[in-house]
Amino acid sequence: MKDILFEPFEIGTLVSGNRFVRSATHEGLSDPSGLYTPELIRTYAELAENEVGLIITGHSFVSEEGRASKFQSSAACDDAVELWKVATEQVHRRGGSIVLQLAHAGGFSGDPEHAMGPSEFRSSPKRGFCRSACRGEIQKIVDAFASAARRARLGGFDGLQIHAAHGYLISEFLSPFYNKRTDEYGGSLENRMRLLKEIFLAVRSAVGNDFPILVKINSEDFVEGGFSVAECVEVCRELERLGLDAVELSGGIPEAGPRRSPVRLPEKGSVDDTVYYESAACRLKATLRLPLLLVGGVRSIQTAERLARDSCCDMISLCRPLIREPGLLRRWHYEDDSPAKCVTCNACFRPILTGRGFFCPRERSDDTSRGCN
Ligand SMILES: Cc1cc2nc3c(=O)[nH]c(=O)nc-3n(C[C@H](O)[C@H](O)[C@H](O)COP(=O)(O)O)c2cc1C
Repeated sequence: MKDILFEPFEIGTLVSGNRFVRSATHEGLSDPSGLYTPELIRTYAELAENEVGLIITGHSFVSEEGRASKFQSSAACDDAVELWKVATEQVHRRGGSIVLQLAHAGGFSGDPEHAMGPSEFRSSPKRGFCRSACRGEIQKIVDAFASAARRARLGGFDGLQIHAAHGYLISEFLSPFYNKRTDEYGGSLENRMRLLKEIFLAVRSAVGNDFPILVKINSEDFVEGGFSVAECVEVCRELERLGLDAVELSGGIPEAGPRRSPVRLPEKGSVDDTVYYESAACRLKATLRLPLLLVGGVRSIQTAERLARDSCCDMISLCRPLIREPGLLRRWHYEDDSPAKCVTCNACFRPILTGRGFFCPRERSDDTSRGCN
């Protein structure tokens, strides 16, 4: 079974050297304007060197208003393309493949002035309400995704991923928890998925049929009145009909709290190898033909093997374990198959969000991880 995990897997024209994915991870390594730095390029090269078959970049904003945080990568300007070419070439030279994640932070935009969602809501008690996007703004957002997608292809990426999860703009439109609109973008599921469909179709027409498009989507929001597994299945079926190449299944929104957010903290004292969205993945797998990537909670090769054996998903995505151990997959393949050293404490956010680098503080003696677990 371990052999199957380390065999190549195809998503359309994209060939991954194995079934492991580095799930999109904001690295906090771009310069203030959002351009790739040499350190970010080295980070991708290191992952490819260490047998990560498919790297999904950190979320890249498609327009300034959709920027979530400082040191985030930009997909909103043509200047990005030349540096992307360097990064993608470094990954390809090491046998890896790399997909650009495109995002709009919506109501969670880093600049409260720009924050805009399907409807007004407060992203935190400290902030005011975000405003509700008007039709003209929605059209601009669709166009921004399409322009960013065109750039992604020029930059040498093997595909792109539309971030439709975690309470960012597209997820907000999908979710009845945030979306209280009464026009054609709100109300029924058909209306709530309209923005995602419009973005998908605009992106497809920008990149052509031979460029893989993936979507990362919530299995459910884990809040009362939120997006549900049944709705997720419906949306994925519709995207499959429209020609989507693969789905990555995630879950949760910030309001779901620390145990149900997209970056869950484990219950105190628990052995943390719970696959967060396993039952939803099995449900999707039984319905869809397109490849399914599953992220969240996988911490051992034995669990990855079990997921493959049970045909729960086609590829296994990891995020926090690869921050602590960029060489994890090489270790699992050739050396020892003990579990990931990651203890799922989220201490990695501290350096990343403050521009101090992309690393696990527990792994470094120059930082501590007090109070994070
Ligand atoms: C530091 C950090 C940055 C993240 N950045 C992104 C991102 O840019 N885009 C995204 O879709 N998810 C992002 N995530 C969520 C992960 O991709 C993943 O869904 C989540 O961490 C669960 O997987 P894990 O249990 O393997 O860590 C981030 C998570 C962490 C810890």
